[in-house]
Amino acid sequence: MRHQSDPRVLNDQTLEKDHKRLVALLRPGVSVLDVGCGTGAITRGIRAVTGDATGIDRDASLVPAEDGFVVSDIFDYAPGRQFDVVTAARVLQWIASPERALAKMVELTRPGGRVVVLDYAHERNEWEPEAPPSFQHFWRAFLRWREANGWDNVLADRLEGMFAAAGLREVVATDDDEVAPGALWQHVMESLGPVVVRDGFLTDLKLMAAREGLAAYGGVQRLALRTAIGVRA
Ligand SMILES: C[S@@+](CC[C@H](N)C(=O)[O-])C[C@H]1O[C@@H](n2cnc3c(N)ncnc32)[C@H](O)[C@@H]1O
Repeated sequence: MRHQSDPRVLNDQTLEKDHKRLVALLRPGVSVLDVGCGTGAITRGIRAVTGDATGIDRDASLVPAEDGFVVSDIFDYAPGRQFDVVTAARVLQWIASPERALAKMVELTRPGGRVVVLDYAHERNEWEPEAPPSFQHFWRAFLRWREANGWDNVLADRLEGMFAAAGLREVVATDDDEVAPGALWQHVMESLGPVVVRDGFLTDLKLMAAREGLAAYGGVQRLALRTAIGVRA
């Protein structure tokens, strides 16, 4: 089942703000593969530091038509080289076999290089004060829809174990919770809401009510994320 990440959300991302643990690993000459680069906003930030960054994404409608960007699914990517750092930010949450994707990322990392994954534990997201009931209804439907597609709603909390099982060494995982920009869930409801409706997890009316409910909500939305870093043996 295909769906698309919202380009408005992706274009707002920056390396320093939205993938901050990666920054410490970058310096000129370090080669980086950014898996699931979307519109390439973070990849460009990486390239500005290292001079060597490749972004890949399976969604051709998002990937910039420029050198250094490749339309490819991680499972099909065979560049014939390895990278000093292979990263995936907010990507494995959309893959039903994240362990296999991680194994592919490890293969693409040179021995002694690093794998860096930043991802969500959606079930731990919080709204303060409580979000309106109409939005909570959407939120529960969204989580059920994700689960039905095999996407892990607590992936971030499993990263450390997955890294160890993939044979990565010196694994460090840190909490990197974010306060979501006000418009984030409006964008998500706009782009993914119709897919959740189409797949039978929500009605159109309930989606509309959730959008109205959230538009009137002025609270803070905390997203639960973690970053895991490990060294390839
Ligand atoms: C939420 S976006 C994250 C974009 C960017 N990394 C960021 O943090 O802003 C997730 C991206 O992963 C891509 N993606 C999902 N599964 C993929 C796969 N199997 N291979 C390559 N890209 C994938 C999607 O197309 C989407 O662009």
